[in-house]
Amino acid sequence: MSHTFVIFGASGDLTSRKLIPALYLLSKKGRLPEGTRIVGMSRTEFSHDSWRAGLKKTTEEFTGKKFEEESWSKFAAGIYYHPGDLTKLEDLQGLKALLEEVEGGPAERVYYLSTAPRLYTAAIDQLGESGLANQEEGARRIVLEKPFGYDLSTAEKLNKDVNRVFPEKQVYRIDHYLGKETVQNLLVMRFANSIFEPLWNRNYIDHVQITVAEEVVVGRRGGYYDQAGVLRDMFQNHLLQLLMVTAMESPVRFDADMVRDEKVKVLQSIRPMSSDEIARETLRGQYEGYRQEEGVPADSQTETFAALRLWVDNWRWNGVPFYLRSGKGMSCRTTQIVIQYSQPPHTLFDQKAHMDSCRLVMQIQPAEGLQMQIQTKVPDEGMMTRTTPLDFRFCKEFQGEMPDAYQRLLLDALQGDASLFARSDEVELAWGIIDPIIQTWRSAQAPKLHLYEPGFWGPDQSNDWMAEHGRQWFDVCPVLH
Ligand SMILES: NC(=O)c1ccc[n+]([C@@H]2O[C@H](COP(=O)([O-])OP(=O)(O)OC[C@H]3O[C@@H](n4cnc5c(N)ncnc54)[C@H](OP(=O)(O)O)[C@@H]3O)[C@@H](O)[C@H]2O)c1
Repeated sequence: MSHTFVIFGASGDLTSRKLIPALYLLSKKGRLPEGTRIVGMSRTEFSHDSWRAGLKKTTEEFTGKKFEEESWSKFAAGIYYHPGDLTKLEDLQGLKALLEEVEGGPAERVYYLSTAPRLYTAAIDQLGESGLANQEEGARRIVLEKPFGYDLSTAEKLNKDVNRVFPEKQVYRIDHYLGKETVQNLLVMRFANSIFEPLWNRNYIDHVQITVAEEVVVGRRGGYYDQAGVLRDMFQNHLLQLLMVTAMESPVRFDADMVRDEKVKVLQSIRPMSSDEIARETLRGQYEGYRQEEGVPADSQTETFAALRLWVDNWRWNGVPFYLRSGKGMSCRTTQIVIQYSQPPHTLFDQKAHMDSCRLVMQIQPAEGLQMQIQTKVPDEGMMTRTTPLDFRFCKEFQGEMPDAYQRLLLDALQGDASLFARSDEVELAWGIIDPIIQTWRSAQAPKLHLYEPGFWGPDQSNDWMAEHGRQWFDVCPVLH
């Protein structure tokens, strides 16, 4: 059966910057199912040709040296555009007529909602109303971009709205972190090597740190950001996804539901916190100058930095804290998961200074790879030891450039593999963890909002907080280049 990729929000930024370049590169590599068509819709008036011409320019810009005239022409021949408003039934009926004309028979379709989230429900309703969600002529899948709701109740409503029209197995909630090679490699490393898994538990691991640091400040996104804050923007999705992949058990097979069942069990194991515990186990900060950003109120209490200590109460992780932190205006852009192993039980070698214990750093961006930090002997210095890195970098080890996460995820959506997409229960459980923290932070029991200077690692109090736990943040900008 042939395939059609339908983009709502065809004139938008995500379409030109990510979706079309990813689809083009997949086509160039011969990975797109043969004869896949791309059909775009938004209100801006384009003809098929003028949309193609605009996309050619932006794709050339975003794919750089990988762009080739010949492969583009082949790809562009399958691109079509339909101007219309996705909240209007007659416009979707017009789109349906175009789809049937270009498909000329049964086809599988992916509908990608690359529009503002406030339009999701209207778009889904009209897809249902117009018959475009009818599964009888071939699978009809829908891809939703984050945010999946604003809190638990809006997420539940969105899930109900989408499941009224699309069965859950046809709903693909995208989190581009899961499309990254290092994140998938974490599963390969854990479950395709027998040396890591026996050590991946409370007996050997002291704690886990997950950091998503952004060097940038909010800039022109102030209006949006001030309503969201760092917990909604980063924790509910990316950080909890990374935690799930780090902590999950091995699924029986690499099958969408089996993988997601194991991820869901991790969220179910996270210890709920009372307001008093939230005040102790979380830290909030705001960078100096945030209140002067465009669209941000002068008395804003919105957090641009957060750190949480979460406990995964199960046999594997009991007693091992998971430290999660994310912020804007940090020292550098890096996303990393640090597995901090415990100290050896007995110190054999005479140490002049404190001996670091073993550490595994998985770097998700900017460069992708991992670094094992182990103790080695310093030559000609008696039995002195030093922390020494063993590096694995994807770009060094494998030929060719690293694919953007969207390539993997869009191809999976076309081929009907939802393993790397969030399921409705996962999204709701994640909100169930984040919502109570946001509520406490907005109450009289809120911990103090610490101001911090941009360009470092968040508020100083975050270091003090770690020190009180006898630990310290791994503040290294990035370990791999
Ligand atoms: N940009 C990114 O890098 C990025 C990253 C992660 C997630 N996202 C998410 O992706 C989605 C799209 O983001 P974006 O940055 O691409 O937004 P954008 O540039 O504002 O694009 C929005 C698109 O929606 C279309 N649109 C608006 N109202 C419409 C209507 N009634 N009927 C049909 N089309 C309509 C707009 O086109 P017309 O005005 O021509 O109708 C435009 O093509 C959002 O949910 C965002 O949160 C974006």
